[in-house]
Amino acid sequence: MKLQGKIAVVTGGSRGIGFATCKKLASEGATVIITDICDSETAAPAIKELEEMGATAKFYQSNVADFAAATETVNAIVEEFGGIDILVNNAGITRDKLMLKMEESDFDSVISVNLKGTYNMIKATYKQFMKRRYGRIISLASVVGITGNAGQTNYSASKAGIIGLTKSVAKELGARNVTVNAVAPGYIATDMTDVLSDKAKAAIEAGIPMKRRGTPEDVANTICFLASDDASYITGEVIKIDGGLAM
Ligand code: NAI
Repeated sequence: MKLQGKIAVVTGGSRGIGFATCKKLASEGATVIITDICDSETAAPAIKELEEMGATAKFYQSNVADFAAATETVNAIVEEFGGIDILVNNAGITRDKLMLKMEESDFDSVISVNLKGTYNMIKATYKQFMKRRYGRIISLASVVGITGNAGQTNYSASKAGIIGLTKSVAKELGARNVTVNAVAPGYIATDMTDVLSDKAKAAIEAGIPMKRRGTPEDVANTICFLASDDASYITGEVIKIDGGLAM
């Protein structure tokens, strides 16, 4: 039990990589708080599964892109649980289109949720991390934030932004014993990537040296490692979890 007594917040934690992360953190003893834009009915099965594992779990409906809502949610969590030790900025969306067809609203919405949402949550938790002199902030970037990807100018820009944000906050908070890292998944089998055509899926898989998609658990395992004391001297790092896709 590497995270006994720790309080973890996972944004967008009700499904996919976020939910796999919640389960992994809970299996190591953490109390897990899911924040998600979905309603509590949608998140209920996730909370139930965590509770059946013996974990303390709670859901807050909250939009990461809304600064006031993110701050209010963080304040409520700190009030109820006494503080936050681990923040996983996982909530994210795609609006894939070639630049020629990409509307301003497609660009703005992806930046608002993925990049501004990560800023909002870090800003809302920043002071309490400073005061606690302990913390783990782990944000979901993507390999396309490193390599770029046709049809994902908005998404790639948001994920590249998360990498810059991560490294900058790591430099600010290092002396406070708060580590700040990002993970950069490749092609992971979730609802987000399920919208791709079979042809597109096969083409991506063919380009992966390990010849398979990643699982949400592949990503959750690395996030849990970064949250644990095993990673206490790692900060400002971006770890790719991609089966070799972006080598
Ligand atoms: P998903 O679409 O299955 O889950 C995303 C979750 O975020 C959902 O529960 C959704 O309700 C929530 N969410 C969306 N907008 C929100 C908002 N404004 N406020 C709060 N919650 C919100 O996605 P998946 O695949 O699990 O992705 C999780 C993270 O990993 C995302 O940041 C994504 O960009 C990143 N990622 C995923 C990859 C993949 O291949 N699936 C690859 C690289 C990165």
